[in-house]
Amino acid sequence: MIPFNKVSISEKEIQCVMEALSNHKASGDGPFTMKVYEEFQKRMGIKHMLLTTSGTTALEMASLLIDLEPGDEVIVPSFTFSSTANAFMLRRAKPVFCDIRRDTMNMDETKVEDLITDRTKAIYTVDYAGIPCEADPINKIAKDHRLFVIEDAAQAVGSTYHGRYAGTLGDFGCYSFHETKNYSMGEGGGIVINDPQYMDRAEIIREKGTNRRQVLKGMVDKYTWHDIGSSFLPSDVLAAILYAQMFRYDEIMEKRMAVWNTYQEGLKDLDRQEYLRCPILPENITHNGHMYNIILPTAEKRDVLVDELKKRQIYAYICYVPLHSSPMGRSLGYDPQQCPVTEDYGDRVLRLPLYADMTVEDAWSVVENIKDILCR
Ligand SMILES: Cc1ncc(COP(=O)(O)O)c(C=O)c1O
Repeated sequence: MIPFNKVSISEKEIQCVMEALSNHKASGDGPFTMKVYEEFQKRMGIKHMLLTTSGTTALEMASLLIDLEPGDEVIVPSFTFSSTANAFMLRRAKPVFCDIRRDTMNMDETKVEDLITDRTKAIYTVDYAGIPCEADPINKIAKDHRLFVIEDAAQAVGSTYHGRYAGTLGDFGCYSFHETKNYSMGEGGGIVINDPQYMDRAEIIREKGTNRRQVLKGMVDKYTWHDIGSSFLPSDVLAAILYAQMFRYDEIMEKRMAVWNTYQEGLKDLDRQEYLRCPILPENITHNGHMYNIILPTAEKRDVLVDELKKRQIYAYICYVPLHSSPMGRSLGYDPQQCPVTEDYGDRVLRLPLYADMTVEDAWSVVENIKDILCR
């Protein structure tokens, strides 16, 4: 049996959780949270980051930080998870869906400018499958039109674009540490504050609108209510799991890349013969081996492949239903034809099993089974 995903838990995670519990400091911002920040600073040069309860709430925090107002418009790819759009729709901002590129399935930067109106306030980009989006042209458009860029880097921890880390490419970067992600704390996330002037307010918003973090830092005696906010702070026990995963950063990355590269090597003949399409990587990026997806020639072929793999106890996953054509998207009055590339790919993409403890032999077995099903 080859599951779709399985979290890699070693002795290190267990040891760190035990230590966190014995610290008698189970709420947020404890010693393990600080160690996580040190890891991100050391590895990626990230100076200002706050752990959150999920990637979803990191995106919600970003939406609060940019003061979105009802009626503001946000440009967002339709090919993403609901959280990217929910985050600003909770502020009553309106999604304006942008189509994707045929190679990376990231937001098509050439389509962004046409979507800007005098209500546009921000662009929410997504680094789909751990492959950073075309940040430079998008940032240029944002600068020209005075828009914020929120980077949904939920899947892209450790990937780079022109040598800069995913999460650092826009005004705010949002990570997920959900169990399906490369580095996990079960449920959790992080917001990267790329402009330090937002850090104080971010700390307040994350702490129910209070300046409690300043008390913990010894800067004030009493904390009080300063702003709107919510409870976005995760337990230090969860941060202990994430610290252990960051301690194993290279090991986890290398294992995932070994599986990813096995798929890429093993399936290239099928790509050449047009049974499927393998991922296409731009030259200016490095990726973190988060996801391996293939595109089948038709939706029917994709569905047959999923079912046949399942019969062989290999669990592949069919990815997103594009937001603009989902029930929620349709209820907002969106036309399924408005993002033709997204529409075309949405029901042909298939995500293969990929997790750190998956062996290269397992990946070969998935390849052989795919060949057997598609080429018989
Ligand atoms: C692109 C994207 N954004 C946001 C999220 C939400 O992250 P979380 O599950 O940590 O809330 C996910 C999770 O799958 C995601 O893939």
